[in-house]
Amino acid sequence: MPKPIPEPVAVLTGAGVSAESGVPTFRGENGLWRSFRPEQLATPEAFRRDPALVWEWYGWRRGLIGACAPNAAHKTLAEMEATLPDFTLITQNVDGLHQAAGSRNVLELHGNIWRMRCTRCERTSEDHRVPLPKIPPRCSQCGALLRPDVVWFGESLPSQVLDAAWTAATRCRLMLVVGTSALVQPAASLPLVALQNGARLVEVNPAETPLSPHTHEILRGPAAKVLPEWWEIRQSG
Ligand code: OAD
Repeated sequence: MPKPIPEPVAVLTGAGVSAESGVPTFRGENGLWRSFRPEQLATPEAFRRDPALVWEWYGWRRGLIGACAPNAAHKTLAEMEATLPDFTLITQNVDGLHQAAGSRNVLELHGNIWRMRCTRCERTSEDHRVPLPKIPPRCSQCGALLRPDVVWFGESLPSQVLDAAWTAATRCRLMLVVGTSALVQPAASLPLVALQNGARLVEVNPAETPLSPHTHEILRGPAAKVLPEWWEIRQSG
């Protein structure tokens, strides 16, 4: 008999949860950072130097992501949220696929690729157009350049979101870590915070990560396969 799920539950996801939807990961064999240099595309300096180049890259990624649908792992996490009274979903992904699968409360540590932010008046807006009619886009209110509302290298994470994620990591009794290389800070610290506070850690990843030696349970396989199986067993138990 599988043990019941200890609550509160927190989940940290990374690019691997969207891999089977067709969204490329950042590291690994076909990872984005193999073909592109982050410092030329995902930093405030790169944007100051060449906003059109940065927007071309984001436009390309928006096209790619826009053609993708949530997979069984996203759907399982949405179902978990609807079923478990004390559940927090934290993601490093900017693709919006958790919300597309039905997740309602998503702590987006690194922002969202479908949101734009004005570099002058800070106004944010959602824009799902692919392709964008004009690159680089400009603010409809003040005319200044818009940027993708994502976190770039060298930038701080949105503090309210990070605080909420930290609280969830501290409180949880079970943390699932799904499809992340657990290399990028501060997100990579969240499972360790959970561990230090007595939570059980479950890793869902086909590959070993620096977190693997610290976990209580490892589901070695693609998230879209192993996560629904894990959930179904616990539901029937
Ligand atoms: P990475 O690309 O670093 O890691 C993806 C992880 O997903 C790896 O550990 C893979 O083994 C795993 N993986 C691959 N396919 C999988 C599958 N089908 N199911 C489950 N896991 C699978 O992506 P992240 O850890 O999300 O930040 O990267 C963290 C941050 O680094 C990103 O948010 C981004 C990047 O630079 C910013 O842009 C600020």
